[in-house]
Amino acid sequence: MSIKKFISFWMGGLAFCFIILALSLIASTTKLQSMNARVLKDSQTIEVAHQIENAILRERREDLLWRATGESAFLTQKANLVKKLPPLVRELTGSDSSSGNSGGTSHIRQLFELYQAEALAEPMHPLAEVSRSADKLLQAVEEFRERNHSQMTETLALSKHLDTMVDRWSIGLILFVLCFAALGAVLLLKRIIIPTFALSRAAERFGRGESAVRARVYNNDELGMLSRAFNEMTENIKLLEQDRRHLIASLAHDIKNPMVLIGGTARRLKKKQAVVEEKMPLLNCIIEQADAVEELIGELVDTVRLEDGNAAFSMVEVDLHDLLKTILAKQSTMLTSHHLSYEGEPCQVWGDARRLERVVNNLISNAVKYSERGSAIDIRLRREPDRCVITVKDAGVGIPPEKIPTLFQPFRRLAGTKNMAKGSGLGLFSVKKIIDGHGGKITIASEPGRGTTVTIGLPSHQNGCPCACPANETGPLGK
Ligand SMILES: Nc1ncnc2c1ncn2[C@@H]1O[C@H](COP(=O)(O)OP(=O)(O)OP(=O)(O)O)[C@@H](O)[C@H]1O
Ligand SMILES: [Mg+2]
Repeated sequence: MSIKKFISFWMGGLAFCFIILALSLIASTTKLQSMNARVLKDSQTIEVAHQIENAILRERREDLLWRATGESAFLTQKANLVKKLPPLVRELTGSDSSSGNSGGTSHIRQLFELYQAEALAEPMHPLAEVSRSADKLLQAVEEFRERNHSQMTETLALSKHLDTMVDRWSIGLILFVLCFAALGAVLLLKRIIIPTFALSRAAERFGRGESAVRARVYNNDELGMLSRAFNEMTENIKLLEQDRRHLIASLAHDIKNPMVLIGGTARRLKKKQAVVEEKMPLLNCIIEQADAVEELIGELVDTVRLEDGNAAFSMVEVDLHDLLKTILAKQSTMLTSHHLSYEGEPCQVWGDARRLERVVNNLISNAVKYSERGSAIDIRLRREPDRCVITVKDAGVGIPPEKIPTLFQPFRRLAGTKNMAKGSGLGLFSVKKIIDGHGGKITIASEPGRGTTVTIGLPSHQNGCPCACPANETGPLGK
């Protein structure tokens, strides 16, 4: 799983747990509040029922005392007690309308009206009658109070049960969230912190010059990809360093040989007491070798300039047909190992003749270096409506298609061809820079084991100067 997905899953999981916890707490608190309200109401109803019962009993006592003594104070007290009852009965019967017990409350109301009428009647009703209706009312109020009491006990038990459940559920969920968070933190540590430290340590060591150091790839995720890219980069830098060292060694070798020849020839010349004509071959040898060194150093300097983008192009009208014929004429006399053939037609471009010659020479030298002795190398030049196309085709070892784009980078040489011929790996890099500088295009088509065809397309001159600059002046890459 990628780090992005893992973090999203982890954070999402935590957020989900917190939402569930918050929702369940809100729901349970609301439920407990409504239960508490119901318990409060039931307890108030029970209290009112108690007051009614108390008032009726006290009224009965005052009634009996009045009947026994005939004192008017008892009668007044009895009347006061009966008058206190209607608001209490209203409160009692009104309080129960919501619980669906309206049948019971209307019965109480009826019994109360009968009791009130009999208790306050004048002349007074017989004691037995008043007592009967008072007893009936008392019994109804008591039943009502009992019902409320059991209802309140039930609600209290339920709320206690709910409270315990909420406590357990909350503790369980909090524990789960803590475990989930801890597990995520541990995994995060393993997947992000440890690989990041490993990568930064590797980068530090690499920066100190330990070129063999590689970052450990822990997982197949973003950091794994980064570690792999780092390893690939260090490997490439190492290879590049190797290539640079090889280049210096091969350059030193290429320069040393002519210098040894120059030195040896000059010493022989010094010893010779011969006439000028006899010295001529030795002098020619010195000049030839000095020219070779000069050319080599010139090419190297040009490549560095092309790499830096500092190369000045001397643009003139060039007939590629003439240029190729001249190159082929030179090459054919020196090159006896391969069958060189050329076919072409006149085609003008606006270009730097010396550098275009270098391009063609490099392509021919590659075709020669990386193909069997005796095989054919075909060079073609054809004119298209708006460009001149040069192709150099060989029947050599070929190039794996996936490697083709890399060959335009400096010092890139295929492992399979390194032993076939000497080279610096700068040829195609310079070729590409030169062709780009002419506004052209280079493509390579190759089939391993069957051969390679390099195609170069350059804008033809009749379309106007591609770089809009007069002859012998700095070209597009010039600064
Ligand atoms: N025609 C070809 N057939 C097979 N491989 C080729 C061909 N041309 C180029 N290559 C591969 O591309 C690599 C780069 O070529 P490039 O011309 O840049 O360097 P080079 O020939 O090795 O050295 P130099 O700098 O002397 O030209 C070669 O080393 C070779 O592996
Ligand atoms: Mg080459």
